[in-house]
Amino acid sequence: MGFSPDTLRDRVAIVTGASQGIGRAVAIELAKVGAHVVACSRRRPELEGVAAAVRAEGRRALAVACDVGDAIQVDQAVARAVEVFGRIDLLVNNAGYRIRPPLEDLPRSEWDAMVATNLTGVFLFSQAVGRVMIRQRGGKIVNVTSVAGRTGARGMAAYAAAKAGAAVLTQSLGAEWAKYGITVNAVAPGPVETEGVLEVWKTPAMIAQAARDVPLQRLGRPEEIAWAVVFLASDQANFMTGETLYVSGGPRVANREE
Ligand SMILES: NC(=O)c1ccc[n+]([C@@H]2O[C@H](COP(=O)([O-])OP(=O)(O)OC[C@H]3O[C@@H](n4cnc5c(N)ncnc54)[C@H](OP(=O)(O)O)[C@@H]3O)[C@@H](O)[C@H]2O)c1
Repeated sequence: MGFSPDTLRDRVAIVTGASQGIGRAVAIELAKVGAHVVACSRRRPELEGVAAAVRAEGRRALAVACDVGDAIQVDQAVARAVEVFGRIDLLVNNAGYRIRPPLEDLPRSEWDAMVATNLTGVFLFSQAVGRVMIRQRGGKIVNVTSVAGRTGARGMAAYAAAKAGAAVLTQSLGAEWAKYGITVNAVAPGPVETEGVLEVWKTPAMIAQAARDVPLQRLGRPEEIAWAVVFLASDQANFMTGETLYVSGGPRVANREE
């Protein structure tokens, strides 16, 4: 039994990084609970497929090609969403990627690109949509961060730092924009089986190893992150802001039993 189809009936949602993985699952789960969806990322053909899946749920959909790190493209995407739907009730800042070179070998350009997508993109989209929501006197923002933003991550320092920035941005904006009726929360996933992750963990043995490190002994499914986003986007979460919901298969703790 899932959320009721009235949970977000006729709300208008923008989802970034919607072309695959968690973002695609968020777009489709939002449609199942009543929302119309603006799907954003750089690859339009993949977005059109997601838009078709949203329409198949009986909702309206718009595919908008956009790089979240480019302020002009972000402003154009938000303007287009307002032009078509007249309002924006929900923003899900999900676009992101991870890189693995050790910090001592990381070129400055790769650091800048990581921060541009995983942190500056959250700022740019939140600012552009926040201005619309401030005018509306209400709205919800949900940022998809990571457990890495709390614990750090060996071999992924730049990623973890950008995600920690997004988590603190969430806390600060949650407090700052409460006066406008806007809530800002985050969902922090642990390892989830997506196209992006499977590019790194290429073999069943690597996936099994990753699963063994999770207390619940498996990777998450994209829908399991999407359901937490639906909750934070719903009226049932109206008394939450500036918070992070961890959906991680359990926290990593210091000692092993065996
Ligand atoms: N999967 C996990 O284990 C996990 C764990 C913790 C946190 N997360 C976070 O969850 C989010 C989604 O992860 P995922 O595993 O679903 O990732 P994924 O499979 O790699 O998909 C990433 C998505 O982000 C979009 N994207 C990347 N750079 C972009 C840019 N510059 N502008 C616009 N869109 C961009 C991609 O679309 P285009 O290529 O079409 O632009 C794609 O739709 C990310 O923020 C990630 O850090 C994931």
